[in-house]
Amino acid sequence: MDELLQRAHDALEESYAPYSEYPVGAALRVADGTVYTGCNIENANYSNSLHAEEVAIGKAVSDGHQEFDTLAVVSESQDGLTPCGMCRQTLAEFCEEAFEIVTDTGEEQPIYTLGELLPDTISADQLADAATQREEQR
Ligand code: THU
Ligand code: ZN
Repeated sequence: MDELLQRAHDALEESYAPYSEYPVGAALRVADGTVYTGCNIENANYSNSLHAEEVAIGKAVSDGHQEFDTLAVVSESQDGLTPCGMCRQTLAEFCEEAFEIVTDTGEEQPIYTLGELLPDTISADQLADAATQREEQR
């Protein structure tokens, strides 16, 4: 199996998911080759549970990395889980549409691009363009 997927599988061993009982692991390789892992961390209030991808991204960014190479995400049930909408948007803050996300169905390891999973989303560029437009209209 792909090394990054293996790291995601290893990461889900640390998952804290007593409510959903759906452990998730993520492994994010950044531009210099370093891999940051994360697992989901649930909470009794349900709503402030952390997703595995959020944890991995948070670890990478807080360690000084904003250029990402590839993300692997897996659930314990190997059902081909891909990042949820919120996590896709968080990735879009740092990644181009060609950024690759690999998952695991148990039989296959499908690869998606971020552009496929979240086309035409709002970006920093869009806000900057709108600001320029407003400036020109003044
Ligand atoms: N989960 C993730 O960690 N990443 C996702 O992108 C999808 C969902 C977690 C949240 C919750 O702890 C469990 O999976 C069930 O939704
Ligand atoms: Zn998510």
